[in-house]
Amino acid sequence: MLELRAITRAYELGGERAGVFGVSLEVPKGCLAVMAGPSGSGKTTLLQLAGLLDAPDEGEVLLDGEAVSALPEKARCDLRLKRLGFVFQAFNLVPVLSALENVMLPLQLQRVPDGEARRRAEAALERVGLADRRHHRPGQLSGGQQQRAAIARALAPEPLLVLADEPTASLDHAHGGPLMDLMAELAAERGATFLVASHDPAVIARAHRVFRLMDGRLVEAS
Ligand SMILES: Nc1ncnc2c1ncn2[C@@H]1O[C@H](COP(=O)(O)OP(=O)(O)OP(=O)(O)O)[C@@H](O)[C@H]1O
Ligand SMILES: [Mg+2]
Repeated sequence: MLELRAITRAYELGGERAGVFGVSLEVPKGCLAVMAGPSGSGKTTLLQLAGLLDAPDEGEVLLDGEAVSALPEKARCDLRLKRLGFVFQAFNLVPVLSALENVMLPLQLQRVPDGEARRRAEAALERVGLADRRHHRPGQLSGGQQQRAAIARALAPEPLLVLADEPTASLDHAHGGPLMDLMAELAAERGATFLVASHDPAVIARAHRVFRLMDGRLVEAS
């Protein structure tokens, strides 16, 4: 489903060289994969490359066997909208919109008609257990509820691949397990593929596959 082939993305700053170097990995369809590693090891850099938000200096990103990292920006943008879902550490929910409106947003960007967007957004919120909070704004939701709203928003367009960067980082440890259980269920139900960056042991323990990074290199895949 997702394949990174000998990816290098180097940042040069003040004579120091950082980034990711020669990383190859494969995440099969329906897999819940976790990218682990200490701060600065390259997790976010790799997620941005997999999410087509950034392009590698060397190597290729393949989605369903198609090399996509070298496509023009317009084509990458289209793929991001239609086939990828993102969950960020701070959730990035729009504060003035209700949970329902937040989840409808990516569907509206895809020009899904309003009635259908609403129906699909309600179904996604129901699926993550937030149906009764759909008219709350993010500021009126708990951290765990905001996280679930962000997952509903990422999933409503039915992406093939969901990328999540430290989705439990702003929450306490009790949230890691249940979040992974939810993502594992969604992976099984929809055949969606997840790639999650995290150093939360509860998250890593529930992964189908773990990739460990150290100083921008893949040091272990299990
Ligand atoms: N835009 C940039 N310019 C220069 N260096 C960068 C840039 N982005 C990341 N880096 C460097 O690349 C390395 C990897 O950063 P990255 O953000 O991928 O790490 P991470 O594993 O996500 O860390 P964390 O767990 O703290 O989020 C770090 O050394 C970082 O300082
Ligand atoms: Mg990071």
